[in-house]
Amino acid sequence: MPSDPPTQDQDQDQDQNPDQDLEQEREQELEALRRELRHHDHLYYVEGAPEISDAAYDALYRRLQALEARYPELVTPDSPTQRVGAEPRSDLPTVTHRAPMLSLDSSQDPDDVRRFDERIRKGVDGHEVVYLLEPKLDGVSIELVYEQGILGQAVTRGNGREGEAVTENVRTIGSVPLRLRDEERPVPTMLSVRGEVLMRLSAFEALNEALLEQGSEPFANPRNATSGALRQLDSSITAARPLECLAYDILAVEGEVFRSDRASVDALRAWGLAVPERIESARTVEEILAYHAAYDRDRDALDYEIDGVVIKLDSLDDRADLGSTSRHPRWAMAFKFQPRKEVTRIERIAVQVGRTGVLTPVALLRPVEVGGVTVSRATLHNREELERKDVREGDRVRIQRAGDVIPQVVEVVPPEVAPEGASGEVPVASRAEPFRMPTHCPNCGTPVEERGPFTLCPNRFGCSAQLKGRIVHFASRQGLDIEGLGDETASLLVDRELVRELADLFELTSEVLLPLPLFAEKKAENLVAGIQARRRTELRRFLFGLGIPEVGASVARDLATHFRSLDALQAAGREELEAVHGIGPRMSEAITGFFGDPANAAVVDALATRMEALTVPDREGEGGPLEGMTIVFTGTLESMSRGAAKKLVEKAGARSPSSVSGETDLVVAGPGAGSKRARAEALGVEVMDEAGFLALLEEKGIPTG
Ligand code: IVH
Repeated sequence: MPSDPPTQDQDQDQDQNPDQDLEQEREQELEALRRELRHHDHLYYVEGAPEISDAAYDALYRRLQALEARYPELVTPDSPTQRVGAEPRSDLPTVTHRAPMLSLDSSQDPDDVRRFDERIRKGVDGHEVVYLLEPKLDGVSIELVYEQGILGQAVTRGNGREGEAVTENVRTIGSVPLRLRDEERPVPTMLSVRGEVLMRLSAFEALNEALLEQGSEPFANPRNATSGALRQLDSSITAARPLECLAYDILAVEGEVFRSDRASVDALRAWGLAVPERIESARTVEEILAYHAAYDRDRDALDYEIDGVVIKLDSLDDRADLGSTSRHPRWAMAFKFQPRKEVTRIERIAVQVGRTGVLTPVALLRPVEVGGVTVSRATLHNREELERKDVREGDRVRIQRAGDVIPQVVEVVPPEVAPEGASGEVPVASRAEPFRMPTHCPNCGTPVEERGPFTLCPNRFGCSAQLKGRIVHFASRQGLDIEGLGDETASLLVDRELVRELADLFELTSEVLLPLPLFAEKKAENLVAGIQARRRTELRRFLFGLGIPEVGASVARDLATHFRSLDALQAAGREELEAVHGIGPRMSEAITGFFGDPANAAVVDALATRMEALTVPDREGEGGPLEGMTIVFTGTLESMSRGAAKKLVEKAGARSPSSVSGETDLVVAGPGAGSKRARAEALGVEVMDEAGFLALLEEKGIPTG
């Protein structure tokens, strides 16, 4: 056989190449389209200055979509077409942050700013002090993790150490790049950014209108709407709610070193992330106060909510020297605005009955805009507050709204100018009589009881207003988290006598809901499905949902972790309860009192028969040979998949999260390991290869098969 001359070899290669060439060309075309679309996304979502028409953009987008549909093997996860379309999830996994997400010390008092400045000056060893000033965005804090420039994970703040992975949902946010821009500066191997997700006021109002139209509960404020959108299991719902993300801090970075906050903000901007507007430097307290005053003045003109300004020391070296307390960094503080106040008139005072039977006086107001949100009711708290402020129907009052807090009546405002020659006093006769709390429950007519400052309807199980409140609480986010079961729906269900106690919720069918007002087919089905899905519920949610006095979400969680089953908790005496960390005599009394009451016990029993196993399952592998260890896998393993390795060690009692943190004990790195390995090395975490890992398994007597 004649040997082929070398040139022929090349020729042969070329002979096989037309296909490969074509494929390469296609890939290049696809990549060029993606680059162009990313460029226009950036101009539109981040710069707010689009260069082409929507129609021209759509044409490009459709072309990319069509090509990707034809060659699905060429679709990349960072393609602009891949923002929406992920499969709905069944839960949001918990993920450890790359670095703790601390919160900020905050104050409204300029004197606290002066004291902060003094402490900083003392702490920086005579270095020049430069601050960076930013708006404090009133949204939801998030961590974005980019590996090799590609968005890998987005995690809510959670408890600051770990949060919920909401990656698919964040991918739908136009101002979050799926791939960092590298035109101006190279991208780092790993970048963890902190930012705030928010909803513009205009979008918020449109969303609430749409919700009202379809008979759903509106959101109380843009922050709640944002949080709700971010925590969806189905990212197509998030995609339909217009969110934005502004980045303001680098939590961790590999392959880059920054010396100042200013430099990191510049880098974030260059990498295509949107950053807050009007970031400025200051060297004196006076400059800080002026910045604060200017933003306070202008904030009504913004289309999103801010609740103060953030003061941060610019030098990252000095920051490191100053360090943090367990919760706040010492190098930053939030300088909050005074709550927004407006004056309006009380048209009527109504009395509401809550789930615990407490009667709350509520001022129904002539609607007034307070910081971009229309307010038409404000709480007057209780009888004592009402008397102290002497608020009456028809009065002009000052109301305030601070972030999440329910609007409050601050004080009665006397007429602005006293008529010429008059004594200046408000003519008494022109005011209504002092408001008196009712002697009978406005809902069920039972005589009320006075309990300290509160007025109470004692008819706990016969008063429909209390039942409505209990349903809403049971279904609330920290309870069973049933969507579409807010005030309005609960009212309807109780008024039509479809629900007489909590357990009846599980008997609802779409047939009985359909004829009701507000219930379109889809809504009826969704509600029934939403309730049925909660037959299986985490014990902590169930306990919160019961509305046991003194038991909030965190106590409910502690009780669930400690007692592990509803039965065990119900059987617990006060002493056993008080053995749980954080539970004192007041709580133990409230809890035993609750379960000891036959009427409550009946409600709980009825629920328990309709729900599955109200227990905390034993964690698989508890007490196993790797108990207490945290092991992270990265790179390619030869003898098994990474998923299988994870399962194996979890079965043996270890935890195996996907990211490396200070708590990681061991990183098993196969070929191709990148930033996780580097991070482990930087943190001084032990790294071993697959052979070492297999040896460890053998040593601990853990079979691999
Ligand atoms: S810096 C540890 N900058 O305010 C310092 N925070 O408790 C990192 N926030 O939930 C925070 N705008 O999410 C920083 N420009 C800004 C901010 C900001 C809003 C949030 C933050 C946190 C809260 C403070």
